[in-house]
Amino acid sequence: MRAIIPVAGFGTRLKPHTLTHPKVLLNVGGKPIVAHIIDKLIEENITEATFIVGYLGERIEDYISKTYPNLKAEYVEQKELLGLGHAIYQAAPTFNDDEILIILGDTVFDVDLSQISKLETSSLGVKEIKDPRRFGVAELEDGLITKLIEKPENPTTNLALVGLYYIKNSNLLTKSIEELMEKNIKTKNEYQLTDALQLMIEKGEKFMTFPVEGWYDCGKPETLLSTNRFILSKNGEPKKIESVVINEPVYIAPTAKIKNSVIGPYATISDNCEVTDSIIKNSIINKNSKVERIILADSIIGADARVQGSHHKMNVGDSLELEIN
Ligand code: UTP
Repeated sequence: MRAIIPVAGFGTRLKPHTLTHPKVLLNVGGKPIVAHIIDKLIEENITEATFIVGYLGERIEDYISKTYPNLKAEYVEQKELLGLGHAIYQAAPTFNDDEILIILGDTVFDVDLSQISKLETSSLGVKEIKDPRRFGVAELEDGLITKLIEKPENPTTNLALVGLYYIKNSNLLTKSIEELMEKNIKTKNEYQLTDALQLMIEKGEKFMTFPVEGWYDCGKPETLLSTNRFILSKNGEPKKIESVVINEPVYIAPTAKIKNSVIGPYATISDNCEVTDSIIKNSIINKNSKVERIILADSIIGADARVQGSHHKMNVGDSLELEIN
């Protein structure tokens, strides 16, 4: 089975970080988003992967080829961002007729992939979501998907597609995307993967679903921070540093230098960061950044940044009430 991982998008919702870094290389819980996906693939012995790259794609390729020299990775370019269906179509020459597992590059999953490869029909990862209007949704009958609708205005089901697609008949998927493009069938102005899968259903392909409870989006600042919290609470390692109070769970890179500070809970401090006289909680500090004399909460600091606060010098008399906002 080959993994197909689209990572061509701009990551607009994560600006300013994505102005200089591809979204999937942003750190969450101690390593880049895409590394969580690749580590999971390797754990499950999936050693072939196609990455659909676009914006800052050479940086992604450089990171993956250096970090995972044993992964049989192929890179295809999506020159125009015309939607997920269009992205997957660019990868078609790399998968021919193989079974494929499409995984959205900006999502961390906590699922047992070995169960997926045992499934006998194509299957889509789903989760019940209160308001699924910004997702694709699946209507079911007797365990089989009868209809897929992308971003429905009035959803008839809460079962949302969360970004994991196991496709047996990849050749039919390629043909269905081709048909979307020939007939110019778009939803929200994009060639959608969901619409191509619906065409496959109309052509007789059977689709089932599998539940994905552990689904962690990294597409927006608040979801990146909540995914960071989830990963740290699962993988955070106890740590001791002189002159530093650590409130677990945290990730502190071995090369980070921290002095006279309080770190955590839920802080990720990346390689070569320097943190001095500060309190940092529920935040991610990307590599090579310096943070001094500041209280940071719910924050994302980019790489190579410098953040400096100040201490107050006071000479306060008795019975005075002083509030600094
Ligand atoms: P998103 O639409 O959530 O990500 O696509 P984005 O476009 O990077 O982010 P925003 O919306 O601008 O903030 C989900 C995944 O699919 C990829 C994206 O790179 C992301 O990993 N994708 C999406 C493509 O590769 N090509 C596309 O045309 C669309």
